[in-house]
Amino acid sequence: MLVCALCTLPPIQQNMISKRNTDRNILVTSALPYANGSIHLGHLVEYIQTDIWARFQRLRDNTCYYVCADDAHGTPIMLRARADGITPEELIAATQKEHEADFADFLIDFDNYYSTHSDENKAFAESIYLKLRDDGHIRMQTIKQAYDPEANMFLPDRFIKGNCPKCGAADQYGDNCEACGATYDPTELKNPVSAVSGATPVKKDSEQYFFKLSDFSEMLQQWLKDGHVQTEIANKQNELFSDGLKDWDISRNAPYWGFEIPDAPGKYFYVWMDAPMGYMASFKNLCNKSQQGDDPIKFDDYWAADSKNELYHFIGKDIARFHTLFWPAVLDGAGYRKPTAVFCHGFLTVNGQKMSKSRGTFIKARTYLDHLNPEYLRYYYTAKLSSGVDDIDLNFEDFMQRVNSDLVGKVVNIASRCAGFISKKFDGQLSAQLPETELYNEIVTAGEQIAEFYEAREYNKAVREIMAQADKANVYIDENKPWVLIKQQGREQEVQEICTQGLNMFRLLMTFLKPILPVTAEKSETFLNTEFTWAGLSQPLLSHRINKFKPLLTRIEKEQIIALTESSSEDMPDKEIDNKKSENKKTDGALTNDPIAEQISFDDFAKIDLRIAKIVKAEHVDGADKLLQLTLDLGGDTGGNTRNVFAGIKSAYKPEDLEGKLTVMVANLAPRKMRFGLSEGMVLAAGPGGKDLFILSPDEGAVAGMKVK
Ligand code: 2FM
Ligand code: ZN
Repeated sequence: MLVCALCTLPPIQQNMISKRNTDRNILVTSALPYANGSIHLGHLVEYIQTDIWARFQRLRDNTCYYVCADDAHGTPIMLRARADGITPEELIAATQKEHEADFADFLIDFDNYYSTHSDENKAFAESIYLKLRDDGHIRMQTIKQAYDPEANMFLPDRFIKGNCPKCGAADQYGDNCEACGATYDPTELKNPVSAVSGATPVKKDSEQYFFKLSDFSEMLQQWLKDGHVQTEIANKQNELFSDGLKDWDISRNAPYWGFEIPDAPGKYFYVWMDAPMGYMASFKNLCNKSQQGDDPIKFDDYWAADSKNELYHFIGKDIARFHTLFWPAVLDGAGYRKPTAVFCHGFLTVNGQKMSKSRGTFIKARTYLDHLNPEYLRYYYTAKLSSGVDDIDLNFEDFMQRVNSDLVGKVVNIASRCAGFISKKFDGQLSAQLPETELYNEIVTAGEQIAEFYEAREYNKAVREIMAQADKANVYIDENKPWVLIKQQGREQEVQEICTQGLNMFRLLMTFLKPILPVTAEKSETFLNTEFTWAGLSQPLLSHRINKFKPLLTRIEKEQIIALTESSSEDMPDKEIDNKKSENKKTDGALTNDPIAEQISFDDFAKIDLRIAKIVKAEHVDGADKLLQLTLDLGGDTGGNTRNVFAGIKSAYKPEDLEGKLTVMVANLAPRKMRFGLSEGMVLAAGPGGKDLFILSPDEGAVAGMKVK
């Protein structure tokens, strides 16, 4: 956004001014990320999708607020803080800081980012609950629940593991089987164990509070019919009505990290009860902050039952039930408006597969930012996203090719081909007329279709159309060859006009791309010395002075992708990542850093050949941030039994301090080809990471080659 040099208002007020005086008033949200895990490329599909939609609305002069927050409650957060030896408050504060920095660097332009652990949210949770209770929508029931007698706590489904009751597969979670897909009650698991303590859970009676979802059956059926959700989602939810909607357990027993239920000591709101209220709380907080400004925002304008303003929730398809059944019912029961629409998207795969740490495709937002420009990913996701719920794939080959050929090769190229002539030969001055007004108008007209695609979240179609227009602009320049004409006497004016035409077409394209590429658009605005607005599209820039062209966007190099996956790959291969859900599970919040790692059978364990090894050589690896190259001697009478191993311990050790030390290695790990060479094993190390990483060193008397028993 170009800011008036005379304007001295603080940024939030400037932002509001640019959003006033419009036809539509819109509030959008993205799902609230759990406050115990890092943002990764899977999460970013949604934040990028929402941010682009919000930016598009503002570019069209609508009022559009975009709010979000950290989802800060639930058992997993409590246990994670406990395991880290910090308070939940400390954990959620640190995570929120990290999340906010990641989002800002991915150019996600929230109007407010808040936390569900806030006064505003507590007030909403309490008042909404009391209204539901007083109107008879809450009932109590004693139910049997799994209880960990060692940890003295009731166990959420995801904290119980055992054998699947249907197919017998070992090591399945308490809610569904990953082997046969069966869903079941955790009490049905065979040989269950608590993931908190390893103890066998017992069944214990517990009185819980239920929200009577069935009271809202008719309303919900009608609401789903009325087009507030995508057809495939509505169809899915409709299946639930035939057997009658089940009431929803909204309470959890202490110890629990959340808000205590009024008049119910020791009972807490289940994290999914107060999480969506976080949308309201974040918006309320924004309204509170705006009260001192010229344009205070009124909470009721957006949330009162009779509000005509628009409210949209962008979410992943895995949490549709919470947003398309529970949430509208809670809102309705509490006397608030329901969402205008809930937009679901699919998951992310990387190179056609689920994200995986061992393949280096489980990529954190920060790791990506260390290597690549956020606008590349914003563009690529946009080029793939539709309004449906299909998964999208990030294919690195395709990613590089598309960004390089579309953005650098097509769009930015138009500006770089024309800019030099205008600044060198015409002192930065554009001509007084366009030689091809018709072509210019054709592109302006295409903008109407592009806007429709943005509005309908058919981003892939919008991008296709923008690139088709960019092709036309390039053909025009190819055919008119200003670089040839400039050498011919008396044809200067033609060159000026051709380049003016080119730069005006570039301006149209960059206006279309502004929601996707805000930084490149801003640099282009500085270059063309004007602000890009949708309303200004039909008026070409004529007799106007522009600034010197500076490179806008560079190509992606293959090495950057290799470095990114290298930085993302961990030494220890792990299970595939089911998008965000391997860390944060659907029905009871997040399951990060499960205190008990996945169990293996004794037979699996017996296969691992652990050996004492002597580090005979340790060296830095050129171009690697984390790795040291070790030559490990495994002893033996004949000597020469050495292995080459790349170990991610550079942050903790200087190579010279390692040479001569004994350590423990996995000697029978299949060799793995890495960017820097073949790694023929793995050394064992422990600790949280960084400087606090310790290779295992055996006691005196141990000898290289000894088998670890
Ligand atoms: O699934 C998740 O990641 C949840 N933290 C989303 C919550 S969205 C809203 F309801 F708060
Ligand atoms: Zn099964």
